[in-house]
Amino acid sequence: MSLYRLLRPLLFGLEPERAHRLTLWALRHGMMPGGGSGNRAPVTVWGKTAPNPIGLAAGFDKNAEAIEPLFRLGFGLVEIGSVTPRPQPGNPRPRVFRLVKDRGVINRLGFNNEGVDAVERRLAAFREKGTAPGLLGVNLGKNKDSPEAAPDYGIGAKRLAPYADYLVINVSSPNTPELRALQSHFELERIIEATRDAMSANPVPLIVKIAPDLKQADKEEIAVAALDEALDGLIISNTTVTRPTNLVSPQQSETGGLSGRPLRCPSTALLAEMHRLTEGKILLIGTGGVSSPQDVEAKQAAGATLVQLYTGLVYKGPGLPARLVAGLSADGTPPA
Ligand SMILES: Cc1cc2nc3c(=O)[nH]c(=O)nc-3n(C[C@H](O)[C@H](O)[C@H](O)COP(=O)(O)O)c2cc1C
Repeated sequence: MSLYRLLRPLLFGLEPERAHRLTLWALRHGMMPGGGSGNRAPVTVWGKTAPNPIGLAAGFDKNAEAIEPLFRLGFGLVEIGSVTPRPQPGNPRPRVFRLVKDRGVINRLGFNNEGVDAVERRLAAFREKGTAPGLLGVNLGKNKDSPEAAPDYGIGAKRLAPYADYLVINVSSPNTPELRALQSHFELERIIEATRDAMSANPVPLIVKIAPDLKQADKEEIAVAALDEALDGLIISNTTVTRPTNLVSPQQSETGGLSGRPLRCPSTALLAEMHRLTEGKILLIGTGGVSSPQDVEAKQAAGATLVQLYTGLVYKGPGLPARLVAGLSADGTPPA
């Protein structure tokens, strides 16, 4: 039995956000296992090599507090954020709920984060130490009270691109009012252009993260925008506002975005659909419900070059990335 299975009841006895703070603290203080086999299946994307295709999804380390220890768990890429230009507290608590029997989480955090100033300081300190062991992504959001979205993404890009291996435009969190409307072709192009302009001195690959709850017309518009704008990638997907009918946990009625196992199949289906719509020409990152080598395989079979996870860590613990990497064959795919 893994140590985490023994510790999990203690962590699950804590309110989820407290448990998360404690986990970040333990990471920062070196109390987590080292991943070891992190460079088993290197993958080259955008001219850079990640030691493996398994990534940490945004939201776990919103403020760039634990980048190094997270790489040490074995992740080939770590994405920090979402970061908004100004700090903001997010929604009132409680705002994170475990759906234990469903292996899911619902969150309505609402982009609680310390803002670009604090994150920029930490990213600069991290980069000063030397080469990162993998790819470092920075996920950008907009402040709740900003009337215009594009300038916010521009501020994030200008300030944080110098430290990032890639930037993510997050227009798919369900917890910021009107955010997901930014996935329309017109809005998306404005934001992509504003972001590219803002980082013209330090251009890095630009990725858009999309919601799993899109109508067919939205999917088609996003595919056209991705191809027209020659986007460097799409992350598929963020959390869902839908509630599958087979959920059993009482917390399912909480408002917010659902992640984890119940999201796995819908997000993989969207991944396959976006692969089809973008004709395999856009790099895809498969995110949603990954917690086993078979899940990694399913994302890869649906068109993902890279895979990310968050909720899997909650249920399977910090040893998960290393176990997933160990399950990959040397060409980055899980063994047959
Ligand atoms: C508590 C929590 C906070 C999250 N915060 C963010 C965020 O700030 N930005 C973002 O793009 N995605 C955020 N996400 C979504 C994850 O990055 C990921 O897309 C989603 O959870 C699906 O992956 P999973 O099933 O492996 O968790 C968050 C997810 C959770 C559970």
